[in-house]
Amino acid sequence: MSLSLSDIKGCPIEKQRFTWSELVQKPISKLDDDAFTRVRVILMNGVENEAFRFQHAAARMNRDLRLPLAKVRRIEHHQATAVNWLLGADHSPLETTIAYEQVAIEVTAAVAQREPDPYLAQTYRFGLLEDFDHLYRYSAMLDRLEGKDANNILQCYTDILAGRPTVVEHRAPEDDLRTPFDARTAHPLSKLHALTIMAGEQQTHNYYMNIGPLFTDPVARLLYAEIASIEQQHVTQYESIIDPDQSWMEQWLMHELMEVYNYHGCVEQETNPRIKALWERFLDYELGQLAYVMELFKTQMRRDPLELLPDRLPDPIPFASQRDFVRQTLLEEVDLRADGEQYVPLEEESEASRAYREYMNSQGSPSEAVAAGYRWQPGTELSHLRAA
Ligand SMILES: [Fe+2]
Ligand SMILES: [Fe+2]
Ligand SMILES: [Fe+2]
Ligand SMILES: [Fe+2]
Repeated sequence: MSLSLSDIKGCPIEKQRFTWSELVQKPISKLDDDAFTRVRVILMNGVENEAFRFQHAAARMNRDLRLPLAKVRRIEHHQATAVNWLLGADHSPLETTIAYEQVAIEVTAAVAQREPDPYLAQTYRFGLLEDFDHLYRYSAMLDRLEGKDANNILQCYTDILAGRPTVVEHRAPEDDLRTPFDARTAHPLSKLHALTIMAGEQQTHNYYMNIGPLFTDPVARLLYAEIASIEQQHVTQYESIIDPDQSWMEQWLMHELMEVYNYHGCVEQETNPRIKALWERFLDYELGQLAYVMELFKTQMRRDPLELLPDRLPDPIPFASQRDFVRQTLLEEVDLRADGEQYVPLEEESEASRAYREYMNSQGSPSEAVAAGYRWQPGTELSHLRAA
């Protein structure tokens, strides 16, 4: 059911409060909860991280917005805490990594199919084949380091196969920038999609940067450094499709709308009633935040924020396996490369990216080393060897 934006109420921001035990709730079950519950937790943690990071940046550039931003940002931070703490300690950092890549693949694939702008849809397909390869590399690492089958996390919703090989994903900065949409004419879905995927990629980048150095295994340390570099490219790519000429106020408004949109999708699709109650609470909070920012927009911009918002929220991003679409995309587009803002066949890739990559890989490639000869086997490589 789509949500009307013409008469928003939501919880007033003064009432958006937490005790410590409300913040730190019982984690989801690694094996018993549906993998898409974990996908939602990881995605929404990314969305909340983007919310408070954006608001920190905005506060440094806008004197008049410092107090309202500080008020809302405190809530965003606590929302991020409540959501992120749903991942329990029974997930090893490498298992959580597998889950992060599952989010990148399934959510980006769902977005790619619903995106109305063909160039932006192409951008999502381009990115998703790279995260698809990361999942394969990390699955090899999980098998070889912890003796675990990545499918315990993926629950067979997502294939474990090579994508566009990580070793060739390294591009020069000029080949990661894309053409931004025009906020005055872009479809509301295009704006919501771009902010959502950018938020997810940014949190993936943060996560790898934080946990990569904690590994003792030298190949794992190298692999995290390598894939973190690609995630940074992905953040560059996805933020570059967002119209940079929007005002800070407009961007803040769109961020709150994006949070409303995604919590609404979580409420509609959550299968765990306890987690659904949290999504409902946070949808109500975000509606309150959106209403607050709409009022602020009126006083700051002297414009009606409804001019910028759709009448109704578009239907949510579906949380479901996109296996067939991913397979098809892999078949048709694995050899695409970038030349500036354009996607080109392999042989036309820019010279700058080739040169950049040649040096980076000149002392070996961690992502090639970790998966040398790897083919996913049910129950890991060891069980296969034992059976032979
Ligand atoms: Fe939030
Ligand atoms: Fe990735
Ligand atoms: Fe990524
Ligand atoms: Fe918010």
